[in-house]
Amino acid sequence: MLSELSREYRTIQVTPEPTGFGAAITGLDLTRPMPAKTAAEVNAAWARHAVVRFPDQPLDLDQLEAFTRQMGHFGDDPFIKPMPGRPNVLELRREADEKAPNFGAGWHSDWSFQASPPAATLLRSEVVPPVGGDTLFADCARAYEALSPTMQAMLAPLRAIHSAARPYGSKGMFAKETEKRTMQIITSTEADRTQVHPLVRTHPVTGRKALFISPVYTVGVEGLTAPETEALLGFLFKHMTDPQFIYRHRWSPGMLLMWDNRCTMHFAEGGYDGHLRVMHRTTVAGDAPV
Ligand code: SIN
Repeated sequence: MLSELSREYRTIQVTPEPTGFGAAITGLDLTRPMPAKTAAEVNAAWARHAVVRFPDQPLDLDQLEAFTRQMGHFGDDPFIKPMPGRPNVLELRREADEKAPNFGAGWHSDWSFQASPPAATLLRSEVVPPVGGDTLFADCARAYEALSPTMQAMLAPLRAIHSAARPYGSKGMFAKETEKRTMQIITSTEADRTQVHPLVRTHPVTGRKALFISPVYTVGVEGLTAPETEALLGFLFKHMTDPQFIYRHRWSPGMLLMWDNRCTMHFAEGGYDGHLRVMHRTTVAGDAPV
């Protein structure tokens, strides 16, 4: 794979995936604050490739928080107890003996049930299992662009209904769970609330349109009956997760990943039962989707 040697990047090296969705960013040290020029180039590469990885970044939690703040304000992370003394950092930890499904094992865009969902999620690998543990990403902009103009026109006025009820609600998956889980999930009737967003949103930086729905958090489409919703969302979810739109992220220890929740959805694949996996996660606040 060739690095992008365009004049755009003078302070970093950017090596995109062949599809352009996903890229590695190297040649920078995230343990120290980024100069403004470097931060601008990281932002440009992130806007272009949506899922960017920074291999070999030996960040402690202060440095992870400092890098996150360079990208924007912290997001609001509900339903999961944060790390002690770190209200903005979640530890995604699964012990070797855990049998409960791994966290994030369903296609979703982070906290899309919020009025203003996070623009970015940052995830840094602390302990990577020897097998499994990949994170899959779907390119929801390219999936939208691949639809026929007729389908795009049909989707344009639609508004999707999002809710955290399925995982975090009072009758949701975590409320019913009986297996031991190290992560402390806070189920709540708050999660049963709904939030409406455009089904197709426009990225505030690139101007590209993207499908903004997911199997975990999208529970309906305004104005459609349940069978109509099922047929439409079923078609769109199958389309969005077609292999041509997927980037499979393989972790190595000490890697930082930053993804754009406005034009992607992701899925934590699991497959590492019997092994410890530890990640640290922050989010960057975003705008109300339009
Ligand atoms: C998530 O944030 O959904 C989890 C991703 C992962 O653990 O790979």
